[in-house]
Amino acid sequence: MPIKAVVFDAYGTLFDVQSVAGLTEAAFPGHGATITQIWRLKQLEYTWLRSLMGRYEDFWSVTRASLDFTLKTLGLEATPELVARIAAAYDTLSLYPEALQALEALAPTRLAIFSNGSPSMLANLTKQAEIDGLLEAVISVDEIKVYKPDPRGYRLVEQRLGLSSAEILFVSSNGFDIAGAKAYGLTVARIERITQAALRAELTSGEIGPAAMFKALRMQPEQLGDEADLTISALTDLVPYVSARR
Ligand code: LAC
Repeated sequence: MPIKAVVFDAYGTLFDVQSVAGLTEAAFPGHGATITQIWRLKQLEYTWLRSLMGRYEDFWSVTRASLDFTLKTLGLEATPELVARIAAAYDTLSLYPEALQALEALAPTRLAIFSNGSPSMLANLTKQAEIDGLLEAVISVDEIKVYKPDPRGYRLVEQRLGLSSAEILFVSSNGFDIAGAKAYGLTVARIERITQAALRAELTSGEIGPAAMFKALRMQPEQLGDEADLTISALTDLVPYVSARR
């Protein structure tokens, strides 16, 4: 089956969620790493909890609530202005260094994003990174009001692109997203942002910090019975794979 579209997850795949670390550390010296990791861990937990509870609120609301949770848990006081400024970092996340080159090289193929992000968060991100012109569609779970990895999300991607699941190559670094997309039937590439060997070295090097904990919990393949079709170490590795399967 030829690949007719490449669809990217946003957070952790095209955009580096760790790029908020400078701001969190500047706001609360000595706590930046802990805030950054708890914030992201809790943000995703809230997407799952809200979906299970049938209480959808958009990703901006979830991002704000998980930041509030983090600061409260750590006992850190912040003015509403400071909280707003930290949360706004999610609108200016950095693109991973190879992402633009990969998107440009893939561009003869139809390209899209499918993300938990709210439409306005995704519009801000793609605009500031200047990749909006390369994308045919930016698809948000907000259309169906249920978060990944609910199968309705991956079905929405198929419907919006008018393609069958096997014709769509979905790319993600997030274990739960890879498991969900694969369980639905999409062709899935896992971008390995940290190798298992590098992570093991970090986890056995002495004290385990919040970043290593995050990588162990969220950046490894899940053991849920659905493995990615291919694993790549940079988004540019997609270029030869897609040209061979066009
Ligand atoms: C997203 C989450 C999975 O972009 O990071 O949908």
